[in-house]
Amino acid sequence: MTPELGVTTASGAYPVIVSAGALEQLPERLGALGLRGVLWLVSDAAVAAAYGAALAARLSQAGYQVQHCTVPSGEASKSQEQLWRLYDWMIGNGVERRDVVLALGGGVVGDLAGYAAATVLRGIAVVQLPTTLLAMVDAAVGGKTGINHPLGKNLIGAFHQPRLVLADTHTLATLPRRELCAGWAEVIKHGVIREAGLFAELEQLAAQRGWTETGFSGWNAEDPELTGRLTALIRRAVAVKVEVVSRDEREQGERIILNYGHTIGHAVEALVDDWALLHGEAVAIGMHAEARIAAAMGLCDPALVERQRRLLAAYGLSVTLPANLDPEAVLTLALRDKKVRAGRIRWVLPTAVGNVTVRDDVPETTVRAVLGG
Ligand SMILES: NC(=O)c1ccc[n+]([C@@H]2O[C@H](COP(=O)([O-])OP(=O)(O)OC[C@H]3O[C@@H](n4cnc5c(N)ncnc54)[C@H](O)[C@@H]3O)[C@@H](O)[C@H]2O)c1
Repeated sequence: MTPELGVTTASGAYPVIVSAGALEQLPERLGALGLRGVLWLVSDAAVAAAYGAALAARLSQAGYQVQHCTVPSGEASKSQEQLWRLYDWMIGNGVERRDVVLALGGGVVGDLAGYAAATVLRGIAVVQLPTTLLAMVDAAVGGKTGINHPLGKNLIGAFHQPRLVLADTHTLATLPRRELCAGWAEVIKHGVIREAGLFAELEQLAAQRGWTETGFSGWNAEDPELTGRLTALIRRAVAVKVEVVSRDEREQGERIILNYGHTIGHAVEALVDDWALLHGEAVAIGMHAEARIAAAMGLCDPALVERQRRLLAAYGLSVTLPANLDPEAVLTLALRDKKVRAGRIRWVLPTAVGNVTVRDDVPETTVRAVLGG
């Protein structure tokens, strides 16, 4: 079996497995954890078509009773309507406390199914089976679950740690390239905040493959050397999240460093028309702006800004603020960010590759200058 990472929190410890072909281990892993109740498999339409039926069959063959429900693909499924559909399905079919929800999909399915598991019968077990790069390196680990409210994203939810996270990088072969690139933003972010070695390896791979000129060429399942190296890099990025979450389960301290690039990124994401940017694409723009803020304040060498920009470009990510975006509107929205304390934005700013500092004394003029020019 693949060597595993492990989250340890006050609410429990769980293994995190990242490997090519990891889903094959699922029946055995569930058994080893003593999870033997009915399995309530939730996926979205795209993921169900590619992996849902095969996984359900594998689990049935291993002797599990499996129920499968599909929600529409996309952010709109993090809704009261889809949550209630899951409750109706589970309660109508006799869900019991010892049962297990399997969340097979991206962050949308992970958040929605995770929240259903957190709340049905006052909480049953959930296993996260992420199939997007973003969900692997971010959403599936850490126990944040929830749905959106018409007044804002992620406003209703609960911390509910999974019993197991199993990320099968084979599933990335079918993920659209744009979604994959958006996920690389979070991988690179983990390098900047905590792991200079991961950052350097991402640079080396990009240089060897010529992506520095052309941008990431996509997941190539026919190239085992490449998929092996990418899987190892993804595992290292997941390890950063595992470590941070283990130290700060409920986001009361250190976990804020995962917010690097998100203060500006969230605002940009919300302000572009029709949510035209993917989350990771907005985070890449945010990382660039926030690195420039750090450089402008003398916190880091200005060379870091360019090094990070080149790496983001190599993995298919632009750092340019969309045209016609009003910097004042970005600033106003950033001020409403959840990480604001006593009216002051808590900025996560790089001091070197692999290190960040949290500051609440960034002058608005500096932010304006960075956003405006
Ligand atoms: N809980 C957390 O800590 C946390 C952290 C970050 C983000 N999130 C949430 O995650 C969500 C975004 O997640 P996402 O980017 O994974 O989006 P997503 O779940 O919408 O998936 C993106 C698209 O890819 C498709 N897809 C997924 N896996 C596929 C595969 N292997 N092959 C082909 N298509 C596939 C989906 O059907 C969807 O259309 C947001 O709602 C965000 O709030 C949560």
